[in-house]
Amino acid sequence: MRKKKKIKGFRFQPFSLKQKKLLFFWEKGSPFDDRDIVIADGAIRSGKTIAMICSFIRWSLKHFNGENFILAGKTIGALKKNVIGPMQQILTAWNLKYEYNRSENFIVIGDNTYYMYDANTEASQDKLQGLTAAGALGDEVALFPQNFVDQMIGRCSVEGAKIFLNCNPGSPYHFIKTEFIDKFKEKNILYMHFDMDDNLSLSQRVKERFKRMFSGVFFKRYILGLWVQAEGIIYDMFDEIKHKVQTMQRAYKEFYVSCDYGTQNATVFLLWGNYLGKWYLVDEYYYSGRDKGKQKTDNEYYDDLVKFVGNRRIKAIVIDPSAASFIALIRQKGKFTIKKAKNDVLEGIRNVASALNDMLLQFNDCCVSTFKEFFSYVWDEKAVQRGEDKPVKVMDHAMDAIRYFVNTILFSSNKLKSMDKSLLGL
Ligand SMILES: Nc1ncnc2c1ncn2[C@@H]1O[C@H](COP(=O)(O)OP(=O)(O)O)[C@@H](O)[C@H]1O
Ligand SMILES: [Mg+2]
Repeated sequence: MRKKKKIKGFRFQPFSLKQKKLLFFWEKGSPFDDRDIVIADGAIRSGKTIAMICSFIRWSLKHFNGENFILAGKTIGALKKNVIGPMQQILTAWNLKYEYNRSENFIVIGDNTYYMYDANTEASQDKLQGLTAAGALGDEVALFPQNFVDQMIGRCSVEGAKIFLNCNPGSPYHFIKTEFIDKFKEKNILYMHFDMDDNLSLSQRVKERFKRMFSGVFFKRYILGLWVQAEGIIYDMFDEIKHKVQTMQRAYKEFYVSCDYGTQNATVFLLWGNYLGKWYLVDEYYYSGRDKGKQKTDNEYYDDLVKFVGNRRIKAIVIDPSAASFIALIRQKGKFTIKKAKNDVLEGIRNVASALNDMLLQFNDCCVSTFKEFFSYVWDEKAVQRGEDKPVKVMDHAMDAIRYFVNTILFSSNKLKSMDKSLLGL
């Protein structure tokens, strides 16, 4: 085991009543001490994860000695950032000794072992098989596949085991809502709903800022904490009056191109320029072989790309990672730097929506295909009914290219680190 780094103790502020309920529900004499599962859902940053970690550690150490426990997050990275990091600080503040095995992803506290799992794919549950656990903490479980959640609960077979789950809301058809929250009585679940006022450590200013970042379905879910359906237009916060600007010369500081590549479908290049701290969509290239009755080869697209950027210095071409042949060609030519796009659709949509709300994006009025797509880009109703949020996959090429740019460049720049994905537990 590696020697552990010096960890600062967590700086506790007073817990809210809601947090206290989550902290103490399992204590003897509490009206909820017999509940097998606790689910805390609600707004982002409402103090769910912190209170849950504290509750889980205290409960597990008080009731068990030498047992196994599950700590699960969407990815190991997300788990480390949102759960393990704060947990180390909390243990330090409480003066509790622990051993953190970073390479094998487990933590030993007292005689208990806490194993870390990612719940990324349908296959993630395989890793849980064979484990016998006395408890589990699932952080952001609305992002887990259902088979993982079922398996995780199934593994907790030690007498007195409990399962602690938290999440931000999603679709009302999501299994966490229909199979757990709606069945809280028959499944002996303590269901708790949090909003931002349940986190006393947030200042009014910070709360206002979070509220400004979201609108539409995202506002309802992440701020109001409601399980509401994503329906209709995806970017309903896109407003021509606010976001569309006249095409004109500006002294742009740096340029990127984001690219959605298709052989059957359209290929789109979007040219982004930074001017006075905002990102402008300077120009668009849009070619649909199907509409034009002629497909283009990679070489023809490359020539079009070179023509499209002209003599501007492009920092990187941000491109759909699946466009293997085109990426290879651009690399071979050696003129541009490639950056493979972060292609998580929902995360990307949420970030684009936040960037639009925050007025970080402007669009030159010459980009007509992009505007057309903004007004036709809608949620897939059938998928939504299955509890999945997905856009309808037509006329989404400029929308994909915007997503690539925003998710890969804008949301990884220093400026936005402070309001980054950790906000959503991702
Ligand atoms: N009692 C508390 N004392 C100090 N900081 C807290 C407390 N409760 C929450 N926080 C802080 O508030 C932020 C959001 O809390 P978190 O539990 O991550 O919210 P959620 O899981 O609901 O998104 C975190 O930075 C967390 O450290
Ligand atoms: Mg959280």
